Parts: sequence; structure tokens; C-alpha cells
Amino acid sequence: MLAIATHGERILGLTAQPVQLFDEPLAALAEKMLETMKLAQGVGIAAPQVGQGIRLFIMASHPNDRYPDAPLMAPQVVINPQILKRSGKMLAGEEGCLSLPGERVQILRHESIEVRYQDLSGEWQQEWLQGFIARIFQHEYDHLEGLTLRERLEIQNQGAGS
Ligand code: NI
Repeated sequence: MLAIATHGERILGLTAQPVQLFDEPLAALAEKMLETMKLAQGVGIAAPQVGQGIRLFIMASHPNDRYPDAPLMAPQVVINPQILKRSGKMLAGEEGCLSLPGERVQILRHESIEVRYQDLSGEWQQEWLQGFIARIFQHEYDHLEGLTLRERLEIQNQGAGS
């Protein structure tokens, strides 16, 4: 299991860099991240959370103790992601983060998003995501921009106050 960075560690506040090489070490990192995420009962994990400042995350929604109502999907490795379109509709939902043990907060996310990303072989994928899976994608994407739930909550509260 890889060590998971907790809030306050510098790596979590940095903008992650694009992945250039789709090689064996990248696949091995993704495999270790998947194992780490499963052991921690997460539904997603981003490379900066394991000390790697690159634009890669895994989303893997499945019902578990932390998210009993989560839909089941095969784990997906997401590399160099882009959010192309965002629904006007936003939904509030409870989120936690492996880097913020024990914290749960209500976060507003776009209900659906159109995304584009590369898989482990470097192939581009494009799809619409919605609901909980769209939520995971937006949460993990934030990690690549150096934002955790705490910073997202601050942005949200500033928006509400203006
Ligand atoms: Ni997180």
C-alpha cells in the first residue's frame, strides 16, 4: 500500500503535470494506486495523493461502507483529463477524501459533465458522466488542480456570499 498524503502536505496544493509517457512504470503506478484505494475503501484516488504530481487518477465507484449507495463500475484509470461541458444543474452531496480522514462535507457539483481523457494505452476516450460518477470525476480533477474538499468548500462559500 502506498502512503497517502494528508491535507497540508505541499504536493496536494500543486497543479499536477501532464503525463507524457504511457509506459510500464505508469501502469505499475496505476496498479499500486488501485490497490491502495481499495484498502482505504475509497471510490477514487489521484496521483498527487500518493506523492506523484502527474495528471492521473482512478475512479472506481462501488457500494462500500463509506458510500453504501454508490453505483458499481469497473475501475477506470483517467489520464490528462479535460472537462469539456458542464450541466447548468448542480447537486449537493456528501463527500469525503482519503487525504482528509474522518471529514465529510456537503459539496455542490455539476450533475453531469462531458469529459475527455486518455486511458493507460494513451487512447483518448470521450463520454458524458452523471450523478455520483460525475461527482467522483470532479473531486479527483480538483486534486490535479491542487484543490482538496477544504479549498472547494471555501470557493463554494465565497460564491454563495457574493
Ligand atoms: Ni480526495
